[in-house]
Parts: sequence; C-alpha cells; structure tokens
Amino acid sequence: MLARDWYYTQRRQVGLDTAVASIYDVSEDSDVRARQALTMLGVKPSWRIADIGCGNGVLATEAALMGAEVDAIDISPAMIGLAEIYARDRKAKIRTQPAGLLSFAYQPNSYDLIVSEFTLHHLPDFWKAVALSRIFNALKPGANFYLRDMVFVSMPDGVDRDVEGWADFSIKNHGFERESVMTHMRDEYSTFGWVMERMLTETGFTMVAADYHAPLHGTYLLRKPKPDEQI
Ligand SMILES: C[S@@+](CC[C@H](N)C(=O)[O-])C[C@H]1O[C@@H](n2cnc3c(N)ncnc32)[C@H](O)[C@@H]1O
Repeated sequence: MLARDWYYTQRRQVGLDTAVASIYDVSEDSDVRARQALTMLGVKPSWRIADIGCGNGVLATEAALMGAEVDAIDISPAMIGLAEIYARDRKAKIRTQPAGLLSFAYQPNSYDLIVSEFTLHHLPDFWKAVALSRIFNALKPGANFYLRDMVFVSMPDGVDRDVEGWADFSIKNHGFERESVMTHMRDEYSTFGWVMERMLTETGFTMVAADYHAPLHGTYLLRKPKPDEQI
C-alpha cells in the first residue's frame, strides 16, 4: 500500500510550521494542559495510546508518566529526536515512530486512545479522510479519538474576517509572527469545521463533542462505535 506512486508525499510539509512547534516547545504549561486533557479522556495505566504528530513529545510523555504504553509518532525525524530527549529527561518510556498520518504502522483494533493535535491540517482534504480512516481502523471498538486542529469556523464568505481575526488572536495571545500565520494560510490545508465534522462521521466515528473555542481552533472528541452500536 505504501509504495503506491500516487500516494501523497507527507514529508513535503516537514519544517513548515517549525515556528509554531517551537512555540509549543517553550509553552510553560503545556505539560499541565496535556495532563488535564489525558485525565479528561480517562487515561488508565496499561492503555495503549498513540499521539500522531507528537511534536516535542509533551503529551506522549505525560501519558507515559500516567502508566500508558505510548507510541509517539511524527513525520519529522527532528521532532522525534526532541520527543525522545524530552521523555528521557523525565524518565518516561515512550516508543517513537518516525512516520506520518498516512504511513504509521498499526495493528487493527489495538489502541485505547489516539490523540492528534495541530497536525491533520498538513494534509489536503482527500488525504485527511484517508488518515482518519487509518486512525479509525487502529482504534479498539469503543475507544476514543481526540482531535485538535486549526479549522475555519466561518462559511466561505466570512473567510477574510476569520483569517484576520485569527492572525490578531495568534499574534496577541501566542506571540506568533504574522508571517508564520500567513504561511499556514498559504501553504497548509486547514479546512472548514463543517467539512471536518462530515469527514469524521463519514469515516464512521460517533461525534461525542465538537468545540470551536478560539478563532480557527476546533476540538473534537470522537468514538469508534462497537459493532452492536453501528446503525
Ligand atoms: C504544530 S506541530 C504540533 C505538535 C504537537 N502535537 C503539539 O500540539 O504541540 C505539528 C506536528 O505535525 C508533524 N507533522 C506534519 N505532517 C505530518 C504528517 N503527515 N504525519 C504526522 N506528523 C506530521 C510536524 O512534524 C509537527 O511535529
């Protein structure tokens, strides 16, 4: 499957959002936020968890410190290197995989939880749906997928206002350079929230919650239904 010559080249996006990732790196409370999210998701020791697009490995490390068996997956070997250092410094055991949303290796029905934060927008929509289908297959029936990403909350005719509002918000609240915000718009593939929701449900997920809490931020809690729950 991975040798198909029409397959999307995931590595073409590597390094594009280094500025964004490095800001996540230095964020003082990213470990606290990750732990809160994992607690909210009900993580238990012995759970098998994958963090896809793990970046610097903060969430993967927190999950490992909670006793989970964690696969930290990222297309960028540099980010995998950072994740390994971050985990080692905290004496957390994570298993790293330098692979992407379209290529990570998995056993079907094997994960208790998959997390992917601010990564799916690296794929065009067709490939987002392919990636979501892989994630669906990798989860155990009844398990959750926690997705956060940059998505447009507006309709197409509101995009100007949306993008400028998001740029102002990101510069003011996250200290982003305007150029990194514009790079995201020009060269990455954020889509509309309503497109994302349809993709997720078409893939087979049950939408437990969808939250659009900040400009261009969508948070989704999805569940893979058990066979007897499928309509
Ligand atoms: C903005 S960072 C987010 C990192 C981390 N999840 C966080 O929230 O702090 C996006 C990450 O996705 C990775 N990435 C880009 N394309 C990817 C793909 N197709 N599959 C997996 N990871 C990818 C990048 O290398 C980067 O580490």
